[in-house]
Amino acid sequence: MKQVSEIKKDFPIFQRLINGKELTYLDSGATSQKPNIVIDSMSEVYKQNNANVHRGTYVLSSETTSKYEDVRNKFKNFINANSPEEIIFTKGCTEGFNLLANSLCKDLSEGDEILLSEIEHHANIIPWQMAADKYGLIIKYINVDKNFNLDMDHLETQLTNNTKIVSLVGESNISGMLPDIKNINKLIKSKTEALFILDGAQLVPHREIDVQDLGIDFLCVSGHKMLGPTGIGVVWGKKELLEKMDPVYGGGDMIEEVYYDKATWAPIPHKFEAGTPPYVEAIGLGAAVDYLSDLTMAEVQKHSDHLRLYAKNTLENINGINIIHTDSENAGCTFAMSVDGVHATDISLMLDTYGVAVRAGHHCVQPFHRKLNIDATFRATGYIYNDEKDFDTLANAIEDSLKILR
Ligand code: ALA
Repeated sequence: MKQVSEIKKDFPIFQRLINGKELTYLDSGATSQKPNIVIDSMSEVYKQNNANVHRGTYVLSSETTSKYEDVRNKFKNFINANSPEEIIFTKGCTEGFNLLANSLCKDLSEGDEILLSEIEHHANIIPWQMAADKYGLIIKYINVDKNFNLDMDHLETQLTNNTKIVSLVGESNISGMLPDIKNINKLIKSKTEALFILDGAQLVPHREIDVQDLGIDFLCVSGHKMLGPTGIGVVWGKKELLEKMDPVYGGGDMIEEVYYDKATWAPIPHKFEAGTPPYVEAIGLGAAVDYLSDLTMAEVQKHSDHLRLYAKNTLENINGINIIHTDSENAGCTFAMSVDGVHATDISLMLDTYGVAVRAGHHCVQPFHRKLNIDATFRATGYIYNDEKDFDTLANAIEDSLKILR
């Protein structure tokens, strides 16, 4: 991969000083920074091409439509989907889960079971809870062990004929845990007819993904965590499954024919994309995919693995720090931390004075924090524009802050 110092030059935000200090941005788990190529691609559409997609017969509309549809193809290649029709644009990962929960659960029967893990993001809990309430479904949770790994034996015992959906995080935004997706998929398919949905919010920005090789059924992705703009995400699903599903949102281009008393649906993917889609955001996401593809996801992954090991060793040396991080050899570069007697928000406010940006709170994983009996952690996540120096700065700033706070 090119040098981090070179990568930083592509991201205008790193020219800013924060509280008079260089910016040490370690909150990419919440959202990533944006390279010029993404910002410029969106500004160019507004300046040069802007017109609504799929509606006009004139030059501007066909230019915007073709840019928008090109991204579908780009994303298909990025995750090795079978065809561009399998790529559905959404507002983000959360909307993706809501779409899947609403569309899939209405075809289930009372008493059917949905399997999640104890360390899921709220986006992969609440849509299922809402659907479970509506359709009389049961949600079960797979244990996460004391080393912050998925308990595979427990997963095996929870899979029954009643299991209809298994929806799991691909890379934890708390512990960095990377479940063995391929094997989990094999296990699910060997014991049930359940659909396997993967939360790719943290996984897809950092690691090479091949949905066909993984064997999963659906993947939810968030654009803004992978250098793209906010307001855009992707649901990937197997074509034969998407074709059988009903849409969730109505209006706009999702129709084939509309009568006063009924309507028929457009083919996939448009069936799921009601209203004017976020086409400028999708084009920005396409530029983000180009940027990551130029670096190559193999190199992005290598960088994450290297940085994670460095960060782990550095942070573990801080006196009195508790780190919620998997003991597994492979993990994401994500460290949720706490210090007894000091509130996470106070630490993160102090870190800000050093120009260090980390997130404090439950990171939308409140049930797991509750299980650990911690109300909040502060969390550092590394990405392509972070290097060892950033984690040294973080560690020194934590140590200095604790001298004042303790
Ligand atoms: N899901 C995002 C995070 O983990 C917002 O911070």
